[in-house]
Amino acid sequence: MKLKTWLGILTAVVAVFTVQAQDMSEEAIKERIKPAGSVYVAGVEAETAAAGGGVKSGEEVYNQACMACHGAGVLGAPKLQVAAEWQPRLDERGLDGIWQNALDGINAMPPRGACGNCSDDEIKAAIEYMIEGI
Ligand code: HEC
Repeated sequence: MKLKTWLGILTAVVAVFTVQAQDMSEEAIKERIKPAGSVYVAGVEAETAAAGGGVKSGEEVYNQACMACHGAGVLGAPKLQVAAEWQPRLDERGLDGIWQNALDGINAMPPRGACGNCSDDEIKAAIEYMIEGI
């Protein structure tokens, strides 16, 4: 092969390496992993909230910890949004009274409905959800 051809090949090879070297620069790498990183963080945050990292809504607490008994009225639990079953309790003790009993437990109702990671306010929100509209 002629020297000119060799030089041509060499130039091409150097050019290819230069382009690759540019792509591998720190900035290019950061740019490339950035979107994946953001998606990852957002996913973890969503998981944390679902796992109880954030404040749960009354409905979420109910679905997670109260529905098992209060959905069907197991062991005489007052049923979801059934006024006839909640009203006498509210008349007698008021919202604060039944809230306190939910925290302490009453008869077959376990303290906090056995929701270990529910805050006082989350228990209250769940009660408000159960008596909503009655
Ligand atoms: C293992 C079944 C069970 C679970 C789980 C449960 N409850 Fe209950 N709950 C009961 C029963 C049974 C009663 C009725 C107790 C009684 O008055 O004899 C009751 C009563 C209550 C009352 C009325 C208390 C009063 O003073 O009249 C509230 C409020 C309440 N539950 C809230 C909750 C909340 C909020 C959750 C979920 C975080 C929950 N419960 C989960 C069984 C359960």
